[in-house]
Amino acid sequence: MHGQARELRQDRKVATVTTFSQCRGVPGHFFCPGLGCAGAPRTTDRDAERAQPVDFPFALRGFRFGLAKVSSTYQVIARKWRPQTFDDVVGQDHVVRTLRNAIGRNRIAHAYLFVGPRGTGKTSTARIFAKALNCTGGPRADFDANDPACLAIAEGSHLDVIEIDGASNNGVDQVRELRETVRYAPAQGKFKVYIIDEVHMLSPAAFNALLKTLEEPPAHVKFVFATTDPQKVLPTIVSRCQRFDLKPIPPELIVERLKRIAADEKIRVSDTALASIARLADGGMRDAQSILDQMISFCGSEITEPDVLDVYGLVAAGKVEELGAALSAGDHRKIVAVVDECDSSGRDLVRLLADVQALVRTVLLDAIAQGGRSSRLGGVSMTTEQLTRLLDGLREGETSVKLGLAEKINFEVTLLKAVEASRARAIDSLIKELAALAEDAPSGGAGDEKKKT
Ligand SMILES: Nc1ncnc2c1ncn2[C@@H]1O[C@H](COP(=O)(O)OP(=O)(O)OP(=O)(O)O)[C@@H](O)[C@H]1O
Ligand SMILES: [Mg+2]
Repeated sequence: MHGQARELRQDRKVATVTTFSQCRGVPGHFFCPGLGCAGAPRTTDRDAERAQPVDFPFALRGFRFGLAKVSSTYQVIARKWRPQTFDDVVGQDHVVRTLRNAIGRNRIAHAYLFVGPRGTGKTSTARIFAKALNCTGGPRADFDANDPACLAIAEGSHLDVIEIDGASNNGVDQVRELRETVRYAPAQGKFKVYIIDEVHMLSPAAFNALLKTLEEPPAHVKFVFATTDPQKVLPTIVSRCQRFDLKPIPPELIVERLKRIAADEKIRVSDTALASIARLADGGMRDAQSILDQMISFCGSEITEPDVLDVYGLVAAGKVEELGAALSAGDHRKIVAVVDECDSSGRDLVRLLADVQALVRTVLLDAIAQGGRSSRLGGVSMTTEQLTRLLDGLREGETSVKLGLAEKINFEVTLLKAVEASRARAIDSLIKELAALAEDAPSGGAGDEKKKT
């Protein structure tokens, strides 16, 4: 089991990448008139079963998206469960609420920028927004997902919702073509919605060519940009958009959604296994769903926590707490023993370091909330200062653990150094304590004598 799990883990990066590229729906992209841009996947996300093998002969204007046959009706979980309405979106209430209100009050801006980590709902929200704008009788936030216009948008066949992959259409010429096409009235719906994904990949010249159109587009045009890297988007572009920051999705919401998916797929998954998947996903719903997909392939219809831990080299939450307790107690022997155990059972030490950091951070936040102390790390009462130094020590060793030759040794050294750092007392705090002692000392002490002389 261990050998097999390790092997699978070795392949994880490759496997995950494959899954992600499937999620992006490259097969079946089409071209919008006059632009040579990629649209949404042709297969409806939720209607995999309906999909029949279809020919996609599109190869226009020098761009070739050759998909000979969609031979399988299987869709990865991440695509099958793409949110179709505002209510389906998990953990982005601030964005959903603002968009709903904007639509309800008829205060729809002409350009939006969705920013956030990967797999948190940018593209999905952009498509849902496009549905709300172009649904029958719209704009309406509570549109019917089965409305023909909405189905067409989900399928990527709506003529007025044009999805452009910013990474491959990033030149000034493509933006010039876009400027030409925006002038034409919508063919099917009320608005022409241009969704530009990975907008940070546009070249500076392309950004500049877009400025004028973005400032004052025709009334029937709406732009929705999505990016994981807002720093790379020109400030002049950002300032012409309403910016929405999508947040990493809290683990409990990820677990909730995965439970629903597992029930639907008739898979039994333990709560601890789901919690481990959510921990691995780091706030990304797509990552969580891809991991669940992979675990189903590995385990079949029943997934337990040890399976997830084995495949991904994760350390059980209880073991992370045990290590945290050893750190707070300054128990060097225990620290070395836990590291040895984790390493010999094939656990990922880089991941373990991140988990320990996350644990110490949680305790630090608790200490701040409690007024300066917390004993949540192994029952030892620690001050915010000690916890900060411990966390700083763990952070300092990060590069050597990740990039150094001897991962295990570097990890041990990092932990031991962090313990020492947390126990050392800063000189300025010592001076403060001495000063306080001197003030409390009875008069006639050394301090007074000094004053007299
Ligand atoms: N907030 C969310 N609620 C529900 N499902 C989500 C959410 N975010 C992501 N997902 C799931 O992840 C998949 C990918 O989401 P989406 O394409 O919207 O992410 P993204 O933010 O655009 O990611 P990227 O930055 O990689 O392009 C969806 O099909 C859906 O299954
Ligand atoms: Mg996206």
